[in-house]
Amino acid sequence: MAGTDLYIGLMSGTSLDGVDAVVLSFSGSSLSVLGTAFTPFSNALRKRILEAHEPRSNEIHDTALLGNELAHVYARAVHELLKKKGIPSTGVQAIGCHGQTIRHRPDAGYTIQLGSGALLAELTRIIVVCDFRSRDIAAGGEGAPLVPAFHHAMFASPPVHRIILNIGGIANLTDLGTATVRGFDTGPGNMLMDAWIQRHLGHSFDENGAWAQGGCCIESLLHSLLNDGFFSRKPPKSTGRELFNVAWLESHLTGSEAPRDVQKTLLDLTSLSIARAIETWCPGAKELYACGGGAANAALMSRLESLMPGVEVDTTSRLGVDPDWVEACAFAWLARQTLRLQPGNLPSVTGAAGPRILGAIYPA
Ligand SMILES: Nc1ncnc2c1ncn2[C@@H]1O[C@H](COP(=O)(O)OP(=O)(O)O)[C@@H](O)[C@H]1O
Ligand SMILES: [Mg+2]
Repeated sequence: MAGTDLYIGLMSGTSLDGVDAVVLSFSGSSLSVLGTAFTPFSNALRKRILEAHEPRSNEIHDTALLGNELAHVYARAVHELLKKKGIPSTGVQAIGCHGQTIRHRPDAGYTIQLGSGALLAELTRIIVVCDFRSRDIAAGGEGAPLVPAFHHAMFASPPVHRIILNIGGIANLTDLGTATVRGFDTGPGNMLMDAWIQRHLGHSFDENGAWAQGGCCIESLLHSLLNDGFFSRKPPKSTGRELFNVAWLESHLTGSEAPRDVQKTLLDLTSLSIARAIETWCPGAKELYACGGGAANAALMSRLESLMPGVEVDTTSRLGVDPDWVEACAFAWLARQTLRLQPGNLPSVTGAAGPRILGAIYPA
């Protein structure tokens, strides 16, 4: 395999479901997905990651240990993927590892993605590129979203006004409709729906939105949630669990709501906040292609479709990339950009002072 242009992308997002791993083969500007693997987080690890979001005593030590544990999980994902595809580690140019966000504070000038790059390089003996967001923030940007440059490279089709929507824990979109690519976080994706059904039914997510579908939207609650200043804030903007968490939801509840009605209201919150963001900041959009786990939520997708009558709604499968793997592909692509000394951010998206080569490199 020596000489071939293979990259691995590792993505573990705000949903805390686990690690998406892909191995890609690049040839010029085109790529093909050679293999994929999903490594779920254990409940215990998920709990520790959630705890790391909150300030507490001895957190530096605990966080360092958690970063090492995540590196072991990432290494396992890499080994499984390479074994599955019969690819030797020496055939891979680099791993692009997003890491696990535990704080995202562009307002305070930092963002933290856990997962020791040094340990991952040691365990895999492959070059690791990680900590992609910090350089964009150092340049005055939001550090997010970073996937729009990849969406643009893969999916742009001028003059069609196309939008790529990623529905992960947080939802973010890329507007490919104008010469200058734009993109931003629209607000919660699956995160609140996941947390609510977990609390009431013990399920990690609401399969196809079926539980939500049996409830009724509580209009006053929806209105109150949508009143949060984040939704009307002009892009560039990014967000995370710091804002959209269960405590935020609870601050809007009276306590008398039926849980199932809250679930439906959360599904409507995700779909309506996306539809309104597109109407306000991406007027004239004609096509929307969704990716991320939320693209598999049939109720959410059909709600989105009904809210945007003038827009053709589908998933990125239509464009040749399985929606489950788009984000991981983006981090393989970003690692390649870094090793080729090419920028990975789009200042028009993040608000950074200029294009920057992203990431920290840990040699093999
Ligand atoms: N069939 C489905 N029905 C409803 N939701 C789904 C389905 N499949 C996946 N999801 C949602 O997608 C989430 C994972 O999405 P993902 O893109 O991995 O997000 P992240 O990047 O934040 O980890 C799950 O937590 C779940 O909420
Ligand atoms: Mg995930």
